[in-house]
Amino acid sequence: MTRCLKVNPEHPEPDVIAEAAAVIRGGGLVAFPTETVYGLGANALDAQAVVGIFRAKERPSNDPLIVHLADAAQLSSVVAEVPDVARDLAAEFWPGPLTLVLPRGPQIPDEVTAGGDTVAVRVPAHPVARALIAAAGVPIAAPSANRFGRVSPTCADHVMADLSGRIDLVLDGGRTQVGVESTVLSLWPDIPTILRPGGIARESLERLLGSVDVRQPSSAEGETLISPGTTIKHYAPRAKTTLYRGEREAVLARIRRDVSDYVAKGVTVGVLAAEEDLALLMDLPAVYRSVGSITSMEQIAQQLFASLRSLDAAGVMVILARDFGPSGLGLAIRDRLTRAAAGDVIVVTETSD
Ligand code: TXA
Ligand code: MG
Repeated sequence: MTRCLKVNPEHPEPDVIAEAAAVIRGGGLVAFPTETVYGLGANALDAQAVVGIFRAKERPSNDPLIVHLADAAQLSSVVAEVPDVARDLAAEFWPGPLTLVLPRGPQIPDEVTAGGDTVAVRVPAHPVARALIAAAGVPIAAPSANRFGRVSPTCADHVMADLSGRIDLVLDGGRTQVGVESTVLSLWPDIPTILRPGGIARESLERLLGSVDVRQPSSAEGETLISPGTTIKHYAPRAKTTLYRGEREAVLARIRRDVSDYVAKGVTVGVLAAEEDLALLMDLPAVYRSVGSITSMEQIAQQLFASLRSLDAAGVMVILARDFGPSGLGLAIRDRLTRAAAGDVIVVTETSD
């Protein structure tokens, strides 16, 4: 049985937090809101508890977890060394959606790092997450609280849909604010590289670090991976998804054509686009989901995963999604949609007739 407890997202009730913290300390599993997505937490220093996370998610054990800290002062208890650049980044972006990959400290069990010599750490900004980590008195290892390979959860209902009966407790703090996961930045062993674009934009990191590389997702699931959870075919809805990239007019014209073709073949189609796009598409018989206005990448990121889940729930057979460009949070949105599409990306180069 999985219990679900409501919690005030801004001012978490101390008794609710105390109850959840007791579950963590007892080796149990608690799903909780962070500012990005819901995490599935366990005591990061308890190998058995961490194994429970992998079991509940059906996640392969070669995919390491992020360790969540109450504040940057806890860093030295989980990593072997804190380079100056990590201190600068922490001062600038923590608490917040930035994960740093650093040399691992001796207290962190192999189960957390998948046997590797680095550990990923972050200080989340969500009041519930911070209160929980502080009350538990231990760092909390937490992947996104979804079944492996599925879309990350941005509300408690998504967590329950994937993990009900498999975990002890869900803290329901409403919808998460950022909507895509943290940016994973490797600082070890050499130059700063974004392993996964996320809630902190590349441009923001570059203001502090100069030019930052973005590693392209690997396509093979089996190869030895720098960041195993960054394989293509991750964040997948059930419906077969296609991503359309290119200039807006051309992309929308191509989506229109493809919707018509699918409809003619009797296929139920879902379309994921911006509010402004819908006026140009909605005369065709498909299921439409707006992710928000093209004027706000923040809004689009926030609604992305809920929209993908909702198209699945509507029973569509295919999803046609449009790209939102690479700037700001657009890069993280593109990354998640490319994975949702398992690499099925159409680059539209000209307006179709
Ligand atoms: O926003 C987030 O990051 C959310 C919330 C819950 O904090 N967490 C999250 O965790 O997205 P997860 O496990 O779904 O994704 C963590 C990513 C994976 O791609 C994993 O491979 C990578 O971080 N990662 C973890 N430890 C790593 C390490 N030591 N080196 C390289 N990549 C690592
Ligand atoms: Mg995940």
